[in-house]
Amino acid sequence: MNRVITIDGPAGSGKSTVAGKLAKRLAFVHLNSGALYRAIACRAHSEGVSLEDEEAVLRLAQQMEFSFVVDENSQTRVLVGGRDIASEIATNEAGKKASLVAVLPKVRSVLTEVQRRVASESSVVVEGRDAGTVVFPDADCKFYLDADVEIRAERRHRELIQAGEGEAGLSREEVLSDLRARDERDENRSVAPQKPADDAIVIDTSSLNVDEVVDELIARID
Ligand code: DC
Repeated sequence: MNRVITIDGPAGSGKSTVAGKLAKRLAFVHLNSGALYRAIACRAHSEGVSLEDEEAVLRLAQQMEFSFVVDENSQTRVLVGGRDIASEIATNEAGKKASLVAVLPKVRSVLTEVQRRVASESSVVVEGRDAGTVVFPDADCKFYLDADVEIRAERRHRELIQAGEGEAGLSREEVLSDLRARDERDENRSVAPQKPADDAIVIDTSSLNVDEVVDELIARID
């Protein structure tokens, strides 16, 4: 029987790295749902579609063919129409745009179905904002990672510098202010807001490194 482990939480809480490592330890597929929202937002932007035009963004989302490959770091990369879009969607700008399309209920439904399809084919560690509340309410194990916003900004800033991607010039303060704006929008939207499921285990990762978080999750799963 396929298993589902959900990891929700805000940007910079450590979800992606932790979910990737946990999936590797368990030999599950790592499904990064944020990458799906980012992919749709980037496609809409490149085609000149307004991120507020729900019907137009929905049409794009329905046309996009998502597939997944596991890379050398055991992270699942999203392919759109067979093309690896990892570097396009990794930017701070893509995260902001994703947060805008993520308020559109019809787009959320399409991506909820995509995630459920992947989980019907293999055991998954899925990371997102509503994985435990909406997409997989009956998940085997639910986690919510959180951390102090200043620490999350520091982490995101470091990642952006490492990624290069022309955003190395973004200051830590700019990253912090973008992150606060995203938190505000993600937590307060009417559909599937970012919040822990009632039965989620909440872990504050502020003072933990990645391996400590993964060990904690494994201990809780056991
Ligand atoms: O996890 P991330 O930074 O890649 O997510 C980018 C944005 O997408 C985030 O600000 C909110 C949105 N998102 C969402 O609403 N629901 C998800 N399951 C995943 C991401």
